[in-house]
Amino acid sequence: MQTPLYDFMKAYAESGFTRFHMPGHKGKKFVGYEDIDITEFYGADSLYEADGIIAASEQNATNLFGTKNTFYSAEGSSQCIRAMMYLAMINKKGTSRPKIVAARNVHKSFIYAATLLDFDIVWLWPKGDIRSLCSCEVSRDDLEDTLRNMEETPAAVYITSPDYLGGMADIKGLSEVCHKYGTILIVDNAHGAYLKFLTPSLHPMDLGADICCDSAHKTLPVVTGGAYLHISKDAPESFGEYAKYALALFGSTSPSYLIMASLDLCNKYLSESYKERLEKTIGVIEDCKEILKTNGWQLEKTDPLKITISAPDGMTGLGIADILRRNRIECEYSDPEYVVLMATPENNEEDFSRLINSLGKNERAYSDKISLPIKNTESVMTVRNAVFSEHEMISSKDGYGRICRELTVACPPAIPIAVPGEIISEDMVKLFEYYGVENINVVKQAGF
Ligand SMILES: Cc1ncc(COP(=O)(O)O)c(C=O)c1O
Repeated sequence: MQTPLYDFMKAYAESGFTRFHMPGHKGKKFVGYEDIDITEFYGADSLYEADGIIAASEQNATNLFGTKNTFYSAEGSSQCIRAMMYLAMINKKGTSRPKIVAARNVHKSFIYAATLLDFDIVWLWPKGDIRSLCSCEVSRDDLEDTLRNMEETPAAVYITSPDYLGGMADIKGLSEVCHKYGTILIVDNAHGAYLKFLTPSLHPMDLGADICCDSAHKTLPVVTGGAYLHISKDAPESFGEYAKYALALFGSTSPSYLIMASLDLCNKYLSESYKERLEKTIGVIEDCKEILKTNGWQLEKTDPLKITISAPDGMTGLGIADILRRNRIECEYSDPEYVVLMATPENNEEDFSRLINSLGKNERAYSDKISLPIKNTESVMTVRNAVFSEHEMISSKDGYGRICRELTVACPPAIPIAVPGEIISEDMVKLFEYYGVENINVVKQAGF
């Protein structure tokens, strides 16, 4: 597969042209990559009006993912999520305020989209024993119940899969329900770009989602910020037509060519022996998981590239992360209950041996764990109105009864405990304590 974007940048770096254009480094090396760091000038195309080398590179990505369109983002899935919500808004029927049905474990960029685009959210809450803010399993039946009871069809249903712990939703089943009720399924697949290259593919575009985003940088060899916005062949026509505009609405007018070049080179990498490398790595991860289990560690069911370890009695996920750090291993995420490791084919076998050796044998028991009180709560203002309200910072311990004004999240996983406009419940106060959130921003109200 060709790499039109990277080839152009490299040729320009070697051309000896005098640079009387941005960026200001003029190709001189400060960090080390400035020679190929260019901007939108003659021949270099333009991300949001692409018809040259960027369009050719995006076409390569489109072919690889088998979508109707795959567009680049140099500003992560965060930009794509805002763009996807804009597309849902312009596709909405009827005149009432737009509603999005969403599983509660959204990344905060979804709430930022609600702030900017002013839509209402109908939450799907987790059920059963809840051990993390990161998970929110939604069954077909749950979704069907919600959609059946809504007066008006929502603009979209929004699901995060894989979630931060590696949990995967039934995208096929959920997309069938969405289409039966005349709405679309949007998937935050930030953690799952690689799912396309499994046999069979588990990518949302192959399971019936209408649009999704992938953070290429999370699981593929792409530098931070590189992401895809995918549009399925069955999605409404307007999506392909307006996607670039939707991305431009929320992006910089100077998108990074370095990030785009990384996406461009990744196309070539994916088109060569990636599938085999991925399969081999998944085998190594499975072996590693088996050894960890034999050594007494409890693992969660995850997508193939994650290893999520549960903390036994008397330990926390944060404590396990510290042990790993002392052994020169940095994890992706840890909280009181879990530690999450993300692997890719770029990890080598020594990495897995180091992991196994660092953790050693676990002699502690796993008793029944607490269930977190993540529950339906009353919302008294729109997200947007709350965010634009007068506000004050208070200790999270004093939050009960106040209206949330600003997202209260620990980052990672950047998943909200309280959403702007919601009345902070006693349960939320407990969750703030559990996740170490000390201060919260609330709407200023008389009487408090
Ligand atoms: C589930 C999920 N969605 C979206 C994002 C945002 O992705 P990006 O960092 O590519 O903007 C993240 C970031 O960690 C995430 O975990």
